[in-house]
Amino acid sequence: MKSLSQLLESVPGSVTTLMMQKGRELAAQGLDVINLAGGEPDFDTPAHIQQAAFDAIAAGDTHYPPAFGKAELLQAICAKLERENNVQALPEQLLVTPGGKWAIYVALASILNPGDEVMILDPAWVSYAPMARLNQGIPVHVPLPAADNFRVRAAQLEAYVSEKTKLLMICSPNNPTGRVLSQDELDAIADVAQQHDLYVLSDEIYEHILYDGARHRSIASMPGMAERTILINGFSKNYAMTGWRLAWLAAPLPVARLARAYQTQSVTSAASFAMAAGAVALNGPQDCVQEMVAAYARRRNFLLDALAEIPGIRSSPIEGAFYLFVQFTQTDKKSLEISQILLEDGLIATTPGIAFGEAGEGYVRLSFATGMSDLEKTVERLARIAPGL
Ligand SMILES: Cc1ncc(COP(=O)(O)O)c(C=O)c1O
Repeated sequence: MKSLSQLLESVPGSVTTLMMQKGRELAAQGLDVINLAGGEPDFDTPAHIQQAAFDAIAAGDTHYPPAFGKAELLQAICAKLERENNVQALPEQLLVTPGGKWAIYVALASILNPGDEVMILDPAWVSYAPMARLNQGIPVHVPLPAADNFRVRAAQLEAYVSEKTKLLMICSPNNPTGRVLSQDELDAIADVAQQHDLYVLSDEIYEHILYDGARHRSIASMPGMAERTILINGFSKNYAMTGWRLAWLAAPLPVARLARAYQTQSVTSAASFAMAAGAVALNGPQDCVQEMVAAYARRRNFLLDALAEIPGIRSSPIEGAFYLFVQFTQTDKKSLEISQILLEDGLIATTPGIAFGEAGEGYVRLSFATGMSDLEKTVERLARIAPGL
């Protein structure tokens, strides 16, 4: 047989998916596994958003929708960007996609030529580097020091920029660290991007999940940034709609044009009735989001307080998203081994920090988008395991 794609052979599958799968296998054997490996709200999609999809289907909205997004959803996104992010975008600058992952993928495909370098700020979400590689780019990992609370500084960015750098990827609120970029950090990123003529991909998929008064700012709203920013956002996390596969990108017109063309030659569109529900989500009441965020905040506070009592574990108060990035301080073991021990001895599925790049070594990511009783059990099990690691 002839060889298969060398490109795909070189790209590993997602560690998060692997750990979730292992957890599910143990659970299928009847074991009481707590799955904190994934990145998925445990809430059902709010009822009024569900109803909008039922209504759309009942009204016959089951045909190919406009490939780039239905007019009502494009309008809703434009209004949301203006209202919440101070970003002015025309509908032609938008592309509605089946999920945030595809929005990022299609953005990379629209920007990169073979050999272009993509700066990724580590620890970073597991899929950025593989997606850059799948689109013939070269991921350049910029380690953000844990001792500096993963702060972004211009000097650190400058140290990794080269002639070949085309794009800088940022994510705020951040998966996995829970950091929200401050105005100073955004200024540093914007300066470097403008000085070196870089595009910025701003992944804002956790935008509304914020704690203790943290504020999200979109870099696209800053002077000189709209023309070089590809803003990614969607419904999965903020509206508990992971299974609907619905997101969007907002990009400078030339980028949006290519992204739109690529979508027509690949997945065609997001699902029609999901788009109808998406418009209702954006235009409708937002208290459902506030209620979910309040529940995440209670869980976050519970975990931070409880973990502070366990020797061998350190976790910083996070500002956004629904992960704790926890450091194991009394062991030399690598994060992969720690995750394995937590799974085998504690029946807790987690994601090892190394999955997010070298800068994440020594850490393990715990998702707290899960019920309080699971989190209470997690604390009991960690208290038993962590000191003896
Ligand atoms: C940082 C980040 N960006 C994008 C995504 C993709 O979300 P979606 O489910 O909409 O594809 C995720 C999902 O885990 C994520 O954590």
